Amino acid sequence: MLALTIDIMTLFTDTLAAVMNESIIGKAQENGIVKINFHQIRDYTTNKQKQVDDYPYGGGMGMVMQAQPLYDCWRSICADAAERLHTIYMTPQGRVFKQEDAKRLKRDYERFIIVCGHYEGVDERFIEECVDEEISIGDFVLTGGELPALAIADSVCRLVPGVLADEDCFTDESHWNGLLEYPQYSRPLEWNGRKVPEVLLSGHHANIARWRRKQALKRTMQKRPDMFERFAPDKNDRKLIDEIMSEGEG
Ligand SMILES: C[S@@+](CC[C@H](N)C(=O)[O-])C[C@H]1O[C@@H](n2cnc3c(N)ncnc32)[C@H](O)[C@@H]1O
Repeated sequence: MLALTIDIMTLFTDTLAAVMNESIIGKAQENGIVKINFHQIRDYTTNKQKQVDDYPYGGGMGMVMQAQPLYDCWRSICADAAERLHTIYMTPQGRVFKQEDAKRLKRDYERFIIVCGHYEGVDERFIEECVDEEISIGDFVLTGGELPALAIADSVCRLVPGVLADEDCFTDESHWNGLLEYPQYSRPLEWNGRKVPEVLLSGHHANIARWRRKQALKRTMQKRPDMFERFAPDKNDRKLIDEIMSEGEG
C-alpha cells in the first residue's frame, strides 16, 4: 500500500529520477510503497523561450527563479492532491536537517512537496505564498537544491515500513537514539593483518549486544563530543561509560 508520496519541483528531473529510481528506493517505488514524482518547473512557463529566471531587481550577480512558473507548478501538484500540501524549500538559509526531521516528516505527512532552487535562488514572494518550511543540509552553498532534495527524500523514504528489510535496519543506526552506530565487519575474518573482534564470532548474543553498545558510546564520545553531551545515558550505559573511562578511551 502506498504510504508516502514526495513531489519534487526541479529544473533537473532526469538527474533526480536517475538516483531515486535506483537501488532500495527504486525497489520501494516498484513495490508501490513510496512514490516520488518529479515535476519540471520549466513546463509551467508562460513565455515562448521557456525561461524560468530573470535578473534580480536592484542589480547584482546571477539570476533569480521567477515566482510564476514555480507557483503554477506548485498549484498543479496541490490540485492533483486535492489539498494544499506541506511545502519545503531547500535553502542554505533553512534550519539544518537532522534525523529527527526525517522522523517527523515521515510521521506527519503522507504527501509533501520539495522545491529545488537554482541560480541565486527563488523570488521571495513564492516563498511567502507557498513555503511552510525551509530546510538546509548544512552551512555551505551548493549550485542547486537537487542534492539536498535527494538527501531529504532518501532519508524519509527509508523510514517507511517495508522499504528496508526490517525496522532494526534504521533504529540501530547512527543518530536514531542520539548515538553513532558501533563498528561493522564482514568477511574475511582477517584482512591486511586486522582481525574481526573475537566477541562477534562467539555467537553469544548478550555479549555481542553489550560490546556493540559500548562501542557506540565510545565512538560517539570520541567522534562527536557535541552529541555525547546531549545524550542521556541509563544505568547500564553509565556502567559502560565508567568502563570506557577507566580504560582511558573516553
Ligand atoms: C546558489 S544557491 C542560492 C543561495 C542564495 N543566493 C543564498 O545566498 O542564500 C541555489 C540553490 O541551491 C540550493 N541550496 C544551496 N545550498 C543549499 C544547502 N546548503 N541546503 C539546501 N539547499 C541548498 C537552494 O535551493 C538554492 O536556492
